[in-house]
Amino acid sequence: MAIDQRIEQLRELKQKARLGGGEKRIEVQHKKGKLTARERIELVLDKGSFEEIDMLVRHHNRDFGLDKHRYLGDGVITGYGTIDDRKVFVFSQDFTVLGGSLSEAHGKKICKVMDLAVKMGAPIIGLNDSGGARIQEGVVGLGAYADIFLRNTLASGVVPQLSVILGPCAGGAVYSPAITDFVFMVKNSSYMFVTGPNVVKTVTHEDVSFEELGGAMTHASKSGVAHVVAENEVALLDRVRETMQFIPQNNAEDPQRKECKDDPNREDDSLNSIVPENPNKPYDVKVVIKRVVDQGNFFEIHEHFAPNIVVGFAHLNGQPVGIIANQPAFLAGVLDIDSSTKAGRFVRFCDAFNIPIITFEDVPGFLPGTDQEWRGIIKNGAKLLYAFCEATVPKITVILRKAYGGAYDVMNSKHIRADVNLAWPSAEIAVMGPQGAVEIIFRKEISAADDPRKALDEKVVEYRERFANPYIAAARGYIDDVIEPSQTRPKLIRALEMTRNKVDRNPRKKHGNIPL
Ligand code: HXC
Repeated sequence: MAIDQRIEQLRELKQKARLGGGEKRIEVQHKKGKLTARERIELVLDKGSFEEIDMLVRHHNRDFGLDKHRYLGDGVITGYGTIDDRKVFVFSQDFTVLGGSLSEAHGKKICKVMDLAVKMGAPIIGLNDSGGARIQEGVVGLGAYADIFLRNTLASGVVPQLSVILGPCAGGAVYSPAITDFVFMVKNSSYMFVTGPNVVKTVTHEDVSFEELGGAMTHASKSGVAHVVAENEVALLDRVRETMQFIPQNNAEDPQRKECKDDPNREDDSLNSIVPENPNKPYDVKVVIKRVVDQGNFFEIHEHFAPNIVVGFAHLNGQPVGIIANQPAFLAGVLDIDSSTKAGRFVRFCDAFNIPIITFEDVPGFLPGTDQEWRGIIKNGAKLLYAFCEATVPKITVILRKAYGGAYDVMNSKHIRADVNLAWPSAEIAVMGPQGAVEIIFRKEISAADDPRKALDEKVVEYRERFANPYIAAARGYIDDVIEPSQTRPKLIRALEMTRNKVDRNPRKKHGNIPL
């Protein structure tokens, strides 16, 4: 065959591969309001940057007539490209080919890009849209999943792993995204569950829809499995691109600084009056965050889950940082099981990838009650404590108002290796809130008083004046400085600058034993 013909043959093959399951199935995909696997890659990567590998892979299975369905690429598109000129590896499952089901060949393609990503030290982004293990291949599909799970685990903390769910993700298949760092879900057309509505109906007699059982908002607000959700695929893939600007390529690199268009010395007088005089009144900590960070740009993670704690990324003078903040506007910012696990995992991500941690603290303590105790607030609260303790990245805390009890220790206190601890004059740092404290230590005195109510109020005022301030902590050096709220941005930026070359290490060990 002449070379021209050979080139023509190659072009035809590649054109065929690009069509996946064919035009009809692409049409069905579009009719469902979904993009194709290739369209998604085009959107998530820089234009024209995608280099495909394994486009010509086919499966070799003959069972149940599979030999008549040997599509080029075998239902997953893999390769590499760039996001804002930085290398990323990607796989994108093609639902138009046998429902994007995972065969031996399909799994091998995913493993190949994962191995490349780790070797080259670049993030991996998985675009998931699959009916699960290819049923005709039997146990081989299960093996292929396990090969992926192992790689997810070994790559964890080495390169960032992002999972984007854009269709079905069911059965054991959910465990690959679950191991990765962040799960993105699109509303109305993505769902994740271990067993679907039909099995649920049979086993527990519950009637539940796909969306209700495992849709984007369910996982964003109820289970906490999904970290970021969006209305449609285009918006979601844009969020994936945005995430990349805060994270490094791998655990040996620092996140990339970017040019700062916001004055590092900018003060903000409105912060002086943001904490209400009445300590029981709420305010929105996100306002504090947005007034402090570069250009008010805060990228929130897990927005709809455990809103009593806020986590996310921002820049401070161009330096990417992870932010953890108690949210007084929801459940008074109390620490409970969900908020502890949410923040604990975020702290560990930041620490694994060299992202400095800024903590804004206003926490009345841990949530009391049988529900929390019986479901394990002890071991779950310990996750956040453990995460802050083991983190060796730069760690800076600003106490805005309440820092009570164990929560004071947990929220990145000096004692657990925070580098710089600041407090606003409104800070209240004590073993417990004034009311509770007075009721315990002055119980006899108050009940013996002619007017117990008045006696209690007087003792509360006395306690508040004595303990509910930052100066006792500052006198012991637990707080490095009490600052004017308006100066929070410049103070944080200087502290961050001071910690830039920080070196801290944990003892050598195989791994710690975080209370799971
Ligand atoms: C082979 C599959 C498939 C699969 C879908 N298809 N899932 N082929 N193996 N797992 C094929 C269908 O036969 C169909 O082919 C085409 O893909 C499109 O599927 P539809 O059913 O027409 O699409 P839709 O109506 O949108 O329904 C999507 C779906 C459904 C809900 C995902 O296909 C479904 O229930 N699939 C099976 C899901 C499942 O039970 N998978 C195994 C899970 S267990 P044709 O040619 O007819 O168009 C698992 C274990 C992993 O994954 C374990 C890891 C440890």
